Amino acid sequence: MQRIDELDLYRLDWDSPAFAANPWPEFEKARAQHPWLAVTDAGYVVFELKAIRDLLGNDEHLTPSFDAIVEIMDCQGSPWGRFAAEQMIALPEREHKLLRETFAAKFTPRYANQLRPLMREIMAGLLAEWSPRGRIDFEEFASYYPVSVMTRMIGAPLDAIPALRDSMETLGLAFSMDKRRVPALDAAFLHLDGFVHELVAERRANPRQADEPDLLDLLIDAASEGGINDRQLADLLIFLFVAGYDTSKNVFTYMMHLMTENPAIYARCAEDLDYCRKVVEESLRMFNPASTNRVTTADITYRDVLIPKGTVLFFTLNVSGRDTTAFPDAQTFDPDRPIDPAKRHVAFGLGRHMCLGQYIARAQLQEGLHLIAQHMRNPHEVGEKGWRPYPGVWGINGLPIAYEPA
Ligand code: HEM
Repeated sequence: MQRIDELDLYRLDWDSPAFAANPWPEFEKARAQHPWLAVTDAGYVVFELKAIRDLLGNDEHLTPSFDAIVEIMDCQGSPWGRFAAEQMIALPEREHKLLRETFAAKFTPRYANQLRPLMREIMAGLLAEWSPRGRIDFEEFASYYPVSVMTRMIGAPLDAIPALRDSMETLGLAFSMDKRRVPALDAAFLHLDGFVHELVAERRANPRQADEPDLLDLLIDAASEGGINDRQLADLLIFLFVAGYDTSKNVFTYMMHLMTENPAIYARCAEDLDYCRKVVEESLRMFNPASTNRVTTADITYRDVLIPKGTVLFFTLNVSGRDTTAFPDAQTFDPDRPIDPAKRHVAFGLGRHMCLGQYIARAQLQEGLHLIAQHMRNPHEVGEKGWRPYPGVWGINGLPIAYEPA
C-alpha cells in the first residue's frame, strides 16, 4: 500500500490553451506513469473510467468542495460567492438530500419525453430564423436552444431570453479561478436572481389556468410541501438554468463538429430519430464538458493507494470516454459501437449528485439533431475553432460552419 502523496505521478499542465485544444494525448502520457492517477497544482486527478466509476459511484466518503473555489476567487459573501457556496450541489449532505428528494421525482424520463413537442417547436423556430443564412457560428446558434427550452418549461416571457443567455455566458466562466471576473459574475447572478424572484411572485399572484402544471408549478408546489424556502427555491431555479446551459450547448457544438467529419452519419440523422439516440450517446462518450471535484471526508483506500481525509480529487469525466483501456478504437466515432453497461460513459456523473437533467438533456440533443440535420445540409467548418478553458465547463469556443439550407 502506498499513500497518494508518495506516488510519482504525471503532472498535467491543464491551464494551458494547448492542453484545452487537445488534452487526450496528455492523459495517455499520464496513464503510462500511473493507471488511474495524475496530479495538477490544484490536486490529484482521477482520469481512468473504471476508477471514476468505482469512486464516484460509491461516494459516501466524498463531498463536493466549492468553499475552496470561493476562497481562491476571494468572493466570500458576494452575491455570486454566496450562491456558489450554497447552490444545490454544494449543500451539506443532509440539506442536499432533502432538496434532491423533493425535486428528483419531477425529472423523470417520462417528463423529458413529454417535453419533446416543446423542444421540436423551439428548434423549428430557431431554424426558421437561422437556417436560411447558410453560414453561422454553430456555437452561438446552439446557445439559444437550452435557454429557450428552459424559459418555456417555466413559463417565462420569451423576450427575457437574450439577457438570460448573456448572464449564463458570464456564469459559464465562473470556475476559471480568475478573481477579476467576480464583479461580472455578481452582476450576472443578480440579474438571474431578480428574474426568478419576479417569476415566482408573478406565478403565485396569477396561477396558470392550464390542466397540466408546468415545471415552475411543480417546483413551487414541491418547495412548499418539502419546506424549501424562497431563497433555496430561487437558487434552485438559477442552478437549473446554469447547469443545463453551457453543458448542453457545448455538447451540441462538439456533436456538430463530429457531424462535419461524418457526413453519412449526419445524413442518416435527418431520416431516423432513433438513430439520433445512438449518435448522441456516442457523442457524449467522445466528448463532454464536465469535470468535477470532491474532497475525501475519511481516509479511503482504492487499489492499494491510501487517500487521506481532506484530499482534493478531480474527476475528469470529460476525457474518460476515450479511455483506451475501456474502449477499443477509443478515438473512433462509431454510433453502432456495442455498449457495455459496466463501461458506460459518465458524462452525467455518478453517485449522489448525478445529473438531474440528464433525460431532458438527452431528449433535447436528440430532437435538436434530428431537425438540424433536415434543415442544414452538408455542413462543413469554415474557420478556426477556439477552445474554452480546461477543466471548467470545457468545449469548443466558436464553430463557424457553412451548409446548404433546406
Ligand atoms: C449535456 C448536458 C448536461 C451535462 C453533460 C450535464 C452534466 C452534469 C454532471 C456531470 C453533473 C454532476 C456534477 C458533479 O457530480 O459534481 C450534473 C449535475 C446536475 N445537473 Fe446536469 N448536465 C447536463 C444538462 C443538465 C440539464 C439540462 C439540467 C436541468 C434541466 C441539469 C441539471 C443538473 C442538476 C440539478 C445537477 C445537480 C444534481 C445534484 O447535485 O444532486 N443538467 N450535470
